[in-house]
Amino acid sequence: MTLRAAIVGTGAVAHLHAQALVADPRVDLVAVSNRSAERREAFADRYGVPGRHATHTELLAAEQLDVVILCTPPDLHREQTLDAFAAGVHVICEKPPALSLAELDDMQHAADTAGLAFAIVFQQRTGTAAAHVKGLLDDGALGRPLLAQCQTLWLRQDDYYDVDWRGTWDGEGGGTTLGHGIHQMDLLAHLMGDWAEVDARLWRLARDIEMEDVSTATIRFANGVVATAVSSVLSPRETSYVRIDTELATVEVEHLYGHSGDSWRITPARGVSDELAASWAFPEVDEPSGHEPLVRAVIDALVAGEPLPDLVTFARRPLELVTAIYASATHGRPVTHASLDADDRFRTALRAEVTDLRPR
Ligand SMILES: NC(=O)c1ccc[n+]([C@@H]2O[C@H](COP(=O)([O-])OP(=O)(O)OC[C@H]3O[C@@H](n4cnc5c(N)ncnc54)[C@H](O)[C@@H]3O)[C@@H](O)[C@H]2O)c1
Repeated sequence: MTLRAAIVGTGAVAHLHAQALVADPRVDLVAVSNRSAERREAFADRYGVPGRHATHTELLAAEQLDVVILCTPPDLHREQTLDAFAAGVHVICEKPPALSLAELDDMQHAADTAGLAFAIVFQQRTGTAAAHVKGLLDDGALGRPLLAQCQTLWLRQDDYYDVDWRGTWDGEGGGTTLGHGIHQMDLLAHLMGDWAEVDARLWRLARDIEMEDVSTATIRFANGVVATAVSSVLSPRETSYVRIDTELATVEVEHLYGHSGDSWRITPARGVSDELAASWAFPEVDEPSGHEPLVRAVIDALVAGEPLPDLVTFARRPLELVTAIYASATHGRPVTHASLDADDRFRTALRAEVTDLRPR
């Protein structure tokens, strides 16, 4: 069985999806769409794609598809996902999947009603090392997790915000917390499970944008772990860093946009035997994180007719964390699941209040 796939929005990230599809013999990339003819043609020529359409509606009407990958700006994800489900097509959607929890719930509801797959791209969960660490934590091999750090210290200078949809609440839906920090917070939540409480602030320190360029948050997870999370687009030495201190060890991963075995380290606590520490060794087979293993996991499930794996579901959790950060910063108090569920303002949009400390 060969799956017929299409990509909507042939910009920067679409190349990672095209490479993943081209590498998989079970899939044919049969069509693309982009409102820009120049980008559409250049992309289709590069990957030898026959079907070329200006809009996703033309594409859905003209092509017989099994799965569509949405690589468009985030404000288009809801409408394009709903249209794909109405056409009977499975969806893989780039992060952030939606601009609000209400939008995401609509999309998930449409998927469930149509009986179609709705996979979200949070590729930091992938890679053999991350799977190994998740296994150790889930099995209790590292003892009880206690404390965590989650840092997304990136640099995005003024030119990054020249793209028309960036830098605005309407186009981007949120600042660096939604656009960048969500990746490491998703990885941390993938390892820790559900969150319980968030206490946060949003700051605009330097960039001329509507949203925050830095956020700082304390997150309490349901398993009792207390974490601090910082997201920034102002950090010249860029890094993405997650650290978890458990009863028996410190687990760390440091990278920028993707990790492999070398990016991870487990340091035993004093008194831990060499034998126990050796049992935590990373597997010899080392597949880095990235779009390819994520797309492959979706294709595996579609070909087998099985439900999607955890690797591409639970998309609500990272969006809840981001929403809770925006709500907490705006209300000036900690946010719980119950208070977030009752918060109509933040269920439908993330437009938050930011403390502006730029020099005037
Ligand atoms: N997972 C990751 O690591 C990662 C990395 C980068 C971007 N992203 C996400 O991917 C999405 C796209 O980001 P990007 O950096 O590739 O943006 P981009 O601006 O480079 O590409 C978006 C493309 O969509 C096209 N487009 C706009 N409206 C369209 C429409 N109605 N129909 C068809 N095409 C349309 C634009 O012409 C553009 O070529 C965003 O949601 C972004 O957050 C994810």
